[in-house]
Amino acid sequence: MERPDPPIIRRIVSGIQPSGKLHLGNYMGAVRNWIELQDRHDCFFFIADWHALSTNYERTDRLRNHVREMLLDWLSLGLDPGRCTLFQQSHVLEHAELYLLLGMMTPVAWLLRNPTYKDQMVQIENRDLAMYGFLGYPVLMTADIVLYRATHVPVGQDQVPHLELAREIVRRFHALYGEVFPEPLPLLTETPKLPGLDGRKMSKSYDNCIFVSDPADVVWEKLRTMKTDERRKRRNDPGNPEDCPVFSLHNVFTPLPVQKDIDRDCRTAAIGCIDCKKILAAGIEELLSPARERRKEIENRPGLLSEVLENGHSRAAREAELTIEKVREAMKIS
Ligand code: TRP
Ligand code: SF4
Repeated sequence: MERPDPPIIRRIVSGIQPSGKLHLGNYMGAVRNWIELQDRHDCFFFIADWHALSTNYERTDRLRNHVREMLLDWLSLGLDPGRCTLFQQSHVLEHAELYLLLGMMTPVAWLLRNPTYKDQMVQIENRDLAMYGFLGYPVLMTADIVLYRATHVPVGQDQVPHLELAREIVRRFHALYGEVFPEPLPLLTETPKLPGLDGRKMSKSYDNCIFVSDPADVVWEKLRTMKTDERRKRRNDPGNPEDCPVFSLHNVFTPLPVQKDIDRDCRTAAIGCIDCKKILAAGIEELLSPARERRKEIENRPGLLSEVLENGHSRAAREAELTIEKVREAMKIS
């Protein structure tokens, strides 16, 4: 039996569901890490549009737009199609074939006990998720990963159960048909919890986001009115940065020595909240202003997004075909 190639450079695969514009939490949680990985490894990053259907099967009209918005955000932030493979899941039909084949040997009990599945069933109340596709979500995710013979998968903590399941499915496949894939390992992304404008977790469903594509004046207006420590009613009232969501953002976007000054000056009311927020705005602009420049360049080149996806698709499809050929052979259905 042929063994998988030894991973010298890691083969990295990860995806995000296209839910529209990226916010700062999405950036910190995934894309920032991807940008770092693209120089050191062979990376495949894709827009998981089929996965988006698992919870949004009723509203498919926005999907196409969301895909383009997300790709534009990716490129503007610095994902570079010259250094990694960017593509759209639904363009590579082998995902579907492998999903089907893996589905034949994945015990339903494994899927039912998946904690993320159970959580989401409870949390998402406004949609009926008792669907076959939703239950099979991790099987499709496994197909996404092993189709490119990934060795490592950068994910946040919430996706670790899915990856564990992927590894179990891989082991079961190997026991039944022989070895074809590497067993993919999670590459845990350190995800600082990013509060939104109201102090709750930054999330589209709370309408409390700063978007990567927000113009500078919009960012400032959001920050200006952002919640702070309630103790600071007047300029002279001292506060506690630990109770202030603005300070949690400083933790991510402001250099450490400046953070220390703010921490001290907030407690003695030596700094006012508006000045404090101006420093934060400057830190956020360091990320967003070059992204805005790149976005302008991209928008001036019509056809570029499609071109990026086409090129990415060619490279992805090549790898996918190679793998699926091995799978068919192993399962004796070629
Ligand atoms: N489940 C991931 C999420 O919601 C998206 C995803 C789909 C993914 N397929 C993947 C991530 C394969 C990593 C690898 O964020
Ligand atoms: Fe928050 Fe800064 Fe105001 Fe302190 S000074 S309460 S850290 S915004």
